[in-house]
Amino acid sequence: MGDYWEQRFSSEGMIWGKSPSRTAYHALEIFKEHHVQSVLVPGSGYGRNTKAFSSIFDVEGIEISTEALAIAEEWDPDSRFIQGSCLEPILPNKTYDAVYCFDVLHLFLAKERKQLIENCLHHLNPSGLVYFTCFSDQDKNYGVGAKIEEGTYEYIQGKYAHFFSEKDLLQHFSQLQILETGSCKEILNYNDHSTKEYHLRYIVGRKIQKVNHDEP
Ligand SMILES: C[S@@+](CC[C@H](N)C(=O)[O-])C[C@H]1O[C@@H](n2cnc3c(N)ncnc32)[C@H](O)[C@@H]1O
Repeated sequence: MGDYWEQRFSSEGMIWGKSPSRTAYHALEIFKEHHVQSVLVPGSGYGRNTKAFSSIFDVEGIEISTEALAIAEEWDPDSRFIQGSCLEPILPNKTYDAVYCFDVLHLFLAKERKQLIENCLHHLNPSGLVYFTCFSDQDKNYGVGAKIEEGTYEYIQGKYAHFFSEKDLLQHFSQLQILETGSCKEILNYNDHSTKEYHLRYIVGRKIQKVNHDEP
């Protein structure tokens, strides 16, 4: 998958323009209410969404594409970016108050989706927050193309995505206290001035603190 993104960022640059997703501003308000100070952004691309956070929080992005990282470092110098896979523990001992992950979860098959969520939780402080967005089963591409796994379709030749129902999304995050879920339309403005509309779902959850029953 790395090659696909490398080629796209190399030929299209800031693919989805400069404006952050509306969900980034929604997450920002929730993070402020919960006194978040540090945010991890897995699959941060060229920094379109980190820039909504970086004047307020301490922000770190993890991104697989070196082409995207080169743009991100110029576009959002207030965030720090790490090259690597968000499926791996990048900095084993580093933890954050919140994770914001925009449209990355649906790129993976079931095993890797689980790995991504576990890795994010590993990097989250006790009572930390997650805000994830993903493709919805209400999107027009749901059910289009070859079925790869339950809910996952090759909707463009050579490119698949998982389309989430509300129930499926809740199951993915069943180990968290869920604060909010919802649906929204995302209108992406491409560099060539074309636009595309996607139906997304989002979920906001809090890491549940483990109670140590051995303590007196
Ligand atoms: C649909 S784009 C979303 C980009 C970004 N979140 C945004 O909204 O601008 C998916 C991003 O995930 C990155 N990506 C894909 N697989 C990854 C992985 N295993 N680790 C880190 N980043 C990854 C891609 O390079 C791309 O930047």
